[in-house]
Amino acid sequence: VSSLNAVEGSINSPLHRFVRAKKKINQSFDEILDYLKESRRFLIDCEISNQYDGETKRDLKKVDNYLTQVVGIHEVLKRDHMKVAFFGRTSNGKSTVINAMLSERILPAGIGHTTNCFLSVNGADGNDAYIEDTSKNPPERNSVESLQQLAHALHNQKLDSSSHLKVYWPTTKCPLLKDDVVFVDSPGVDVTPDLDTWIDTHCLDADVFVLVVNSESTINHTEKSFFHKVNSKLSKPNIFILNNRWDASAEGDPEMIKLVKQQHMERTSEFLVKELKCVSQAESADRIFFVSALETLRHRMSMKRSKMPQREPSIDENSDFDEAAYRMGKMARRQEFEDFENKFKECISKSAITTKFNGHTSTGITIAKEMVQIMEQILARASSHRSWCTAERQEQQETLDFINSKLEEVTEQIKNKIQNITEEVEMQVTKAMSD
Ligand code: GTP
Ligand code: MG
Repeated sequence: VSSLNAVEGSINSPLHRFVRAKKKINQSFDEILDYLKESRRFLIDCEISNQYDGETKRDLKKVDNYLTQVVGIHEVLKRDHMKVAFFGRTSNGKSTVINAMLSERILPAGIGHTTNCFLSVNGADGNDAYIEDTSKNPPERNSVESLQQLAHALHNQKLDSSSHLKVYWPTTKCPLLKDDVVFVDSPGVDVTPDLDTWIDTHCLDADVFVLVVNSESTINHTEKSFFHKVNSKLSKPNIFILNNRWDASAEGDPEMIKLVKQQHMERTSEFLVKELKCVSQAESADRIFFVSALETLRHRMSMKRSKMPQREPSIDENSDFDEAAYRMGKMARRQEFEDFENKFKECISKSAITTKFNGHTSTGITIAKEMVQIMEQILARASSHRSWCTAERQEQQETLDFINSKLEEVTEQIKNKIQNITEEVEMQVTKAMSD
């Protein structure tokens, strides 16, 4: 039942729109490819039978070019996925947010500087998890069975902060990975001076960015300047801001918490709306969230373990500690994490469909139209060739008839001549004999 629910959940997810669109566009390009191959065979036949000369050669060259183009697009489409990249200062909880979204402790997370290079989590078809080091040629593969192993493997890699390790995790374990989402984790933006290389290497093809801020402090200059750079290279990037570790404020004075939340909200929305100008004031409410990644991760993992909806333990009426309020706070933060995920799914699938498929769709349409044009031209040439052949054949028939009649005439004349000569000779012979 739970796996059925997971499949259904996946089908109804906005992310599935991307998966369906990808399937459809791949099918369309399969059809275009078949059509091109068939057209190519046809043109080669025309060329062999020496028909339409130079024009056929020119069309064949065009079809060959389209074939190369379509094979290339087909390859790109097969690999296309939705990419979300996480940035923020060290220890703000980037890796924990990704783990929470995947409901599993996949990426190493901990105090201090933990993630020291770019790590992407990709879906793998089989049951085995492995990591691939793309900086090696050919890329090196190491199997990973547990988080400890992954952390150990990462620790042993002598990589600079811009390098990229790909973690492949079985899609059967995480529905988000099945829906073609690739998560990119990064080291803290405060640990490298080389943000430009990061942006050029890892950000230009990202569909969504998530800035993980520490709500115990606030968004700071390094985080802002990183996103100013991203904004200057990409027009209106899709940015979400997670004010993480919001649980840390749970035990404070409610009035104070309200004020802090308001302050964070004002600062972060001003950053998105006025500084980056990537969303309107109204849209900014759907881009800023107050969450606790750690709580969400713990909750989801315990749900997974028990495979049953968790019931909160009953409230101790005599306790001094306001448990009810505490639990309400926890639930509200989990709900806000889910709200973030829903908005994120809508945004990433819409953005990825537009940026990844729009260009290819118009190229596919242009190629299909051009092919129809080529075929129509061949048809026109064939029919003019056919009428030329008919006229030619008629002319040839008339000449043949004329020659035939001439031949008959000449034959008759020859016959008569031979008859006359024969008669003459016979006369001569008879005369000679009588003499
Ligand atoms: P680097 O990889 O070093 O850049 O850090 P990071 O941003 O990936 O942070 P990471 O996920 O490793 O989290 C750092 C520490 O904060 C870990 O001990 C987490 O358990 C803890 N943490 C993460 N999110 C939360 C949260 O929402 N609340 C609390 N209380 N702790 C959190
Ligand atoms: Mg990390």
